[in-house]
Amino acid sequence: MVDEHPLVSEIRARLGAKGVRAGSDAEGYLEDFWGRARGQALCVALPASTEEVSAVLGLCHRHQVAVFPQGGNTSTCLGAVPDGSGQSIVLGLGRMNRIHGVDPVDYSLVAEAGCILADIQQAAAAEGLLFPLSLGAEGSCQIGGNVSTNAGGTAVLRYGNTRDLVLGLEAVLPDGRVWNGLRTLRKNNTGYDLKHLFIGAEGTLGVITQVALKLFPALERLTTVLVSFDDIAHLSALTGPLRRAFDTAIIAMELISASEVGIVKAIYPDLNVPYAAGEGWYLLLDIAHGREGDITDTLQGVLGEAIEQGYLSDVLIGASEAQREAIWKLRHTVTEAHKQYGMGMSHDVAIPLAAIPGFIQAAGALVARQFPQAEVALVGHVGDGNLHYNVMFEKTVWAAIGDQAATRKAVYKAIYDLAASLGGTFSAEHGVGALHVAEMGTYKPALELELMHGIKALLDPGQRMNPGRVLPPWVG
Ligand code: LAC
Ligand code: ZN
Repeated sequence: MVDEHPLVSEIRARLGAKGVRAGSDAEGYLEDFWGRARGQALCVALPASTEEVSAVLGLCHRHQVAVFPQGGNTSTCLGAVPDGSGQSIVLGLGRMNRIHGVDPVDYSLVAEAGCILADIQQAAAAEGLLFPLSLGAEGSCQIGGNVSTNAGGTAVLRYGNTRDLVLGLEAVLPDGRVWNGLRTLRKNNTGYDLKHLFIGAEGTLGVITQVALKLFPALERLTTVLVSFDDIAHLSALTGPLRRAFDTAIIAMELISASEVGIVKAIYPDLNVPYAAGEGWYLLLDIAHGREGDITDTLQGVLGEAIEQGYLSDVLIGASEAQREAIWKLRHTVTEAHKQYGMGMSHDVAIPLAAIPGFIQAAGALVARQFPQAEVALVGHVGDGNLHYNVMFEKTVWAAIGDQAATRKAVYKAIYDLAASLGGTFSAEHGVGALHVAEMGTYKPALELELMHGIKALLDPGQRMNPGRVLPPWVG
């Protein structure tokens, strides 16, 4: 190849042919999951070990070339694909996919960054243990990406975010030096806890290469409960008694709007699920209990009271695996359905629990007034306050919108302003990526941004790691 950048030849010499993709072989790494952004790169480097990641970053450091780290490429906010310059490389972690053993005494496992989340869950399950991080993309997202974005998912109420599940990690710095913080200690008060800098940094400070994860005893049995109710104002009157009765046995607590059910059913009319489309709300819970234990009495007590008070319209209790699957199927189909339905502006907001009904009412009124062509579809991890507030424009409706860019901007601003006014955030579990950099400038306090830029300057003085992601340009 005559015109190949010398960096690409050097990476190939170090990693071998398997470790480099360029031209049409690089395609899958350049476009984001939604097909909404396409970038370019000199090549995609696919290192198979920490040493190879270190070598690649060392070479990029010498050539002063920017690096876009990529895991399973399932980011919802353009965090995983390169920009359009074509002068950078993508560093894919997919070949680093070894799980180094599950330790049932230590309740931990160590995994390379490119391990698929579902494989980690299975490795823990094979030892009778649980790795509780659980989310829609678990069949293709990679643990390095989960840790880099501090992913949330459906079990945060019970087990916390990814940050709470990481005991230690190994990261390669932008100049190629390796920091080995791969410990499994539960307690270690010896100065600044540096792993937390890399968790949620979205690859802007270095590349996470291995992680030590916290495991739990496997859950013996789960009962799934689907409750339908009409008025969002009754949300906490429903969730409060459930939380008090079941406490940490509640593994998931999801909210789904009946309008969301309508969209999923429009795309997948044959989906056989126990939800009706239309008005109103569903609350979906997974409650854990021992194999012999029966929670029916307690459930009936709590829900019976809510029925008497007129809060809920229907209850479905799925105790068998088949019933559970049928109930969860719709929840897990939402993202794919949105992708096909049209243009969705998804807001990954978190709102203080007490303000959620007010937020939903105010946002609904706002959308009806300002964007009457749109439909609101909502799913959310309501137990922890995280709502995916989706303002959806069906394909043909979106095609007829005159100024699409202005409409997108106006929708985002209206919803984020409302969330901020209630003490909420514009990104709860998906991260910032390239999509929400402007919001960082708008909603983050100046001092927080200044401190973040200080940390960035210390670890990545050349500003070469995932440039244009997370941090707005420094104007201080
Ligand atoms: C979900 C993803 C989109 O909760 O976060 O479905
Ligand atoms: Zn989510």
